[in-house]
Amino acid sequence: AKLLVLNGPNLNLLGTREPSLYGNDTLASIDSRLAEIARDGGHELTSFQSNAEHELVERVHRALDERVEFIIINPAAFTHTSVALRDALSGAAIPFIEVHLSNVHAREAFRRHSYFSDIAHGVISGLGAVGYELALKAALCRISEQA
Ligand code: DQA
Repeated sequence: AKLLVLNGPNLNLLGTREPSLYGNDTLASIDSRLAEIARDGGHELTSFQSNAEHELVERVHRALDERVEFIIINPAAFTHTSVALRDALSGAAIPFIEVHLSNVHAREAFRRHSYFSDIAHGVISGLGAVGYELALKAALCRISEQA
């Protein structure tokens, strides 16, 4: 199956950005680990990061044309702001898991609200980079159940 990993604004700075909150792994190292796990299972995983809301929206539209079966997304700050990205995901009707490196419930009050959680297959928050791997594991389980 085809899977897509989407990362929102400022996640290109992972590894150097507030490591106490977001860990020491770079996004490139997370992405290559995820691609390898997917490949080992006979799947195809691509990753995309953008700081621009419209680019993420357009990437979701392309995913529909590419017949992507599952999305893992860390919308980053757009989690708390973006009706447009939410609408893109619900319009595409591609199941997705929402991932956050930090525990958004243990931080500022404005991070507790997500525009994605109520339409997500599941949500992982606070487990650091391993959260993406757990999301991938859950996505692959779901895909194999449906095959
Ligand atoms: C984040 C949490 C968001 O509140 C924040 O804006 C981010 C990263 C996380 O992975 O913990 O940029 O999504």
